[in-house]
Amino acid sequence: MTVRWAAPGRVTLIGEHVDYQDGLVLPFALSQRTTAVVERRAGGEVVVRSRGQENSFPVATSPGAVEGWAAYVAGVVWALREYRVDVPGLSIDLDSDVPVGAGLSSSAALGCAVAAALDDELRLELSPTALATIARRAENDYVGAPTGAMDQMASMLGESGHALLLDCRDLSTRQVPFDLSAAGLTLLVIDTHAEHSNVGGAYADRRSDCETAAAGLGLSTLRDARLADLPRITDAVHRRRAQHVVSEIARVQEVAAILDAGRPVDIGAQLSASHLSLRDDFEVSCDELDEAVDAALAAGALGARMTGGGFGGCAIALVRDNDVPAVEQRVQAAYDRRGWRAADIFAATPSRGAHRVD
Ligand code: GLA
Repeated sequence: MTVRWAAPGRVTLIGEHVDYQDGLVLPFALSQRTTAVVERRAGGEVVVRSRGQENSFPVATSPGAVEGWAAYVAGVVWALREYRVDVPGLSIDLDSDVPVGAGLSSSAALGCAVAAALDDELRLELSPTALATIARRAENDYVGAPTGAMDQMASMLGESGHALLLDCRDLSTRQVPFDLSAAGLTLLVIDTHAEHSNVGGAYADRRSDCETAAAGLGLSTLRDARLADLPRITDAVHRRRAQHVVSEIARVQEVAAILDAGRPVDIGAQLSASHLSLRDDFEVSCDELDEAVDAALAAGALGARMTGGGFGGCAIALVRDNDVPAVEQRVQAAYDRRGWRAADIFAATPSRGAHRVD
């Protein structure tokens, strides 16, 4: 039998760099997605194909054995075997229109598409949350990127017209209405082309700053810290990191409440405050992201912020439909002035998570 599954990339609407601190996050699934076509094959090998490239590895793979894009596939096979699933030889064909390295979770889309397709082919009947956890283990323990749970959960559980409110402490979720077109709004994604990666040291450094700050307060994570606790953190850098996490979790709650009340037009202030916090306190922005945010706001965006891990990748801007051309023009003019390659700008549509494609 052949099974074909699709799993999308995601945009973090708000709730950045808080998932690995047990925080609340509010991402949504994109319409851009990765498809995985899976078939059994004789022998103990997994053969993976993507855009003319082919890679193969033994089913009994272990961390470090496979590198590059195929490592995300090998990681899912490895994680399933860790859960005592008997994985047969496989042939896996991949295709994707999720921009790679742009902070839109192309890696989670890949891992989730493969995990969901294998669940179907091997009749495992795992829950979407369990599959997200397998894809996350692949990324954390096989590929070696110390990420949180947000991206895989968004890719597995997204629903069209909604953002996903995820509590990273217990992985409980709630769909929050986010119907942009009904409100006359567009959420622009601005791909800066500045390079982004979660595998390098800066992401892990931020994570360990948060762990140190939490430990200083006698907490296991910053989820339970309050703003009033923060002066007790003696190191100024760690205090700023904690200031971001605590304030960002509060902003997620505010945005979810505003969206629940059916007022998406009113979330702009929180989006922009999130950017300033990521720029100044968490220090994960970069010139290209700041320029995109500033230009979008100057041209009338209701709010704008970087999205994803940072240090490059994409910004988002919430824009009234009528203002879209002005925002696009202003961002491109700013990039042109700086001598940067033009940004890729497209409208994001909150879409359904992983699903079978027949
Ligand atoms: C990356 C990680 C996520 C999350 C974000 C920042 O996308 O994969 O787990 O930490 O960065 O919010």
